[in-house]
Amino acid sequence: MCGIVGYTGGSQAAPILLEGLEKLEYRGYDSAGIAVFGGKEKKKEPSIEVIKAKGRLKVLFEMTDSGKAVHGTCGIGHTRWATHGEPSVVNSHPQYAKDKRVVVVHNGIIENYQELKERLVRDGCEFVSDTDTEVVAHLLDRYYEKDPVDAISKLMYHVRGSYALGILFGDRPGEIYAVRKDSPLIVGRSAGGNFIASDVPAILRYTRDVCFIENQVIVRLTGKDIQFFDVDKAELKKEFTQIQWDTEAAEKGGFKHFMLKEIYEQPKAIRDTVSPRVKDGKVNLEELHLTQEDLASVRRIQMVACGSAYHVCMTARYMVEGLVRIPVDVDLASEFRYRRPILEENTLVIVISQSGETADSLAALREAKSLGHKVMAIVNVVGSSIAREADSVFYTWAGPEISVATTKAYSTQLAAVYLLAIAMGRARGLVDEQTEADMVAELLRLPEKIERILEEKERIQWFANKFSHSRDIFFIGRGLDYASSLEGSLKLKEISYIHSEAYAAGELKHGTISLIEDGILVIGVATQSSLFEKLISNMVEVKSRGAYVLGVTSYGNYSMEDVANYTIYVPKTMECFAASLVVVPLQLLAYYVALGKGLDVDKPRNLAKSVTVE
Ligand code: F6R
Repeated sequence: MCGIVGYTGGSQAAPILLEGLEKLEYRGYDSAGIAVFGGKEKKKEPSIEVIKAKGRLKVLFEMTDSGKAVHGTCGIGHTRWATHGEPSVVNSHPQYAKDKRVVVVHNGIIENYQELKERLVRDGCEFVSDTDTEVVAHLLDRYYEKDPVDAISKLMYHVRGSYALGILFGDRPGEIYAVRKDSPLIVGRSAGGNFIASDVPAILRYTRDVCFIENQVIVRLTGKDIQFFDVDKAELKKEFTQIQWDTEAAEKGGFKHFMLKEIYEQPKAIRDTVSPRVKDGKVNLEELHLTQEDLASVRRIQMVACGSAYHVCMTARYMVEGLVRIPVDVDLASEFRYRRPILEENTLVIVISQSGETADSLAALREAKSLGHKVMAIVNVVGSSIAREADSVFYTWAGPEISVATTKAYSTQLAAVYLLAIAMGRARGLVDEQTEADMVAELLRLPEKIERILEEKERIQWFANKFSHSRDIFFIGRGLDYASSLEGSLKLKEISYIHSEAYAAGELKHGTISLIEDGILVIGVATQSSLFEKLISNMVEVKSRGAYVLGVTSYGNYSMEDVANYTIYVPKTMECFAASLVVVPLQLLAYYVALGKGLDVDKPRNLAKSVTVE
């Protein structure tokens, strides 16, 4: 979704803003713009120069000679992902009120913008764009007398919805104002100046000293100073955090795409997530502040997430119900929040999210809390909204994930779920000491097994090239393998634009099999011994109707080759962990199909990395 960067300090702002926006490209955008105090020719009177362009950031770079043609040391920038109004120069941000007295960049949605706009129009206000953001600019212009914080506070009482705003007031050169509610925004400080940004990579080159600002907090930045205020203008003290990972973690590091780099980072990401939670061969989750009694008293688990994180929940359902013998309900966050869920006592609610900012997941968390339930979040981005609002946080240590299609975050979410399941199984007396030790040892071996799969990537690449022009590709699986199929199918469709669906293989005969025709690719995932024969039968069914069948299974299951036209093997592991291995060839398959089609793998059309609006 939209990206925001702001800088004020001793250096020229425009190159810093453009470079920061480039680092936020992964969030998805269709137009971009910057606003800088000073203007092209250094005039006596400070003025704000606004430059905007539709399409890729490249255009803005060209228009401004990579920022060098825009003079001034304080400014804000924005990449826009259209919600209200088509992608166009006029709808792109910054938006401003007359004479650029107030200039605004915005991430989020102002829900009551229509009624506010009608009122403003009645009062004689002229609008040029279709955006909800322009309403913010006009309202601030109206409320602004002498004190920007006072104007922002008044705005907050009148707008509904979600927003992260970066604001310049025309008569306040060198100052940036910012405020957030339910959309991400961070503040960074350095000796050379201060920053705002939607995410850490945008400013990491300049500082690691960041503050994850909370909801409804207003910020005032100059080159030397940062102040925080609450909605009633009372000054607040805020803690800054040191970012541990470095710029290389957010660079491609020799890989053609972030996605491939992140696929390769999975062994490390899983190690980093699992190792700190293992002490003396046992799972140790003391960071969650859950006692053995807390874990043992859980009667039901309600899991909520979106997209790939939802597929982790689906995997968790099979894994946790099998091991811990308590019911696990799984909901899409966008459904959960509106279905008036009934949560029994002693239900542990778990929200899974890489970004920690997904609007539906955040709303689901709030819904569960409003029903009086404690929420545990499995989150990757430290200090994100979901992490802050949950009662306990299980951080996945995947590091920054830039590619829109998740890979390493997904794998670490699976690892987090395994650790939790083992801990609960122990607490409930269903996993004995030896079993725990065996499971933990196997978990620690998963990274090395993934490395072995990666060594065979050429076989997958060869296969992907053969099918990169398919129109439809189906995935089938049963049990845990059905959950993995869902993820494989999503990965493929989102980056290759090939229509794909995943089915619980037993459902084929209830309608889907009529879609099978000559030459269509069906991918059968089969790692669960108790379901293996059944899945093989389903593969025979589709093959006899003309399908070309790819089998994905574990070494040892060589009878797969009797049916499949082509087989990909993954190392053997405990069956409950198989999802962590089979997903790797499926990710590679999606990657190489998209690559073969010459598509923008890291930034697929219409998609954003962090879905901060409904
Ligand atoms: C798919 C993908 C998305 C996300 C979903 C949830 O590759 O990345 O489906 O899984 O948008 O995002 P988070 O995990 O940030 O809540």
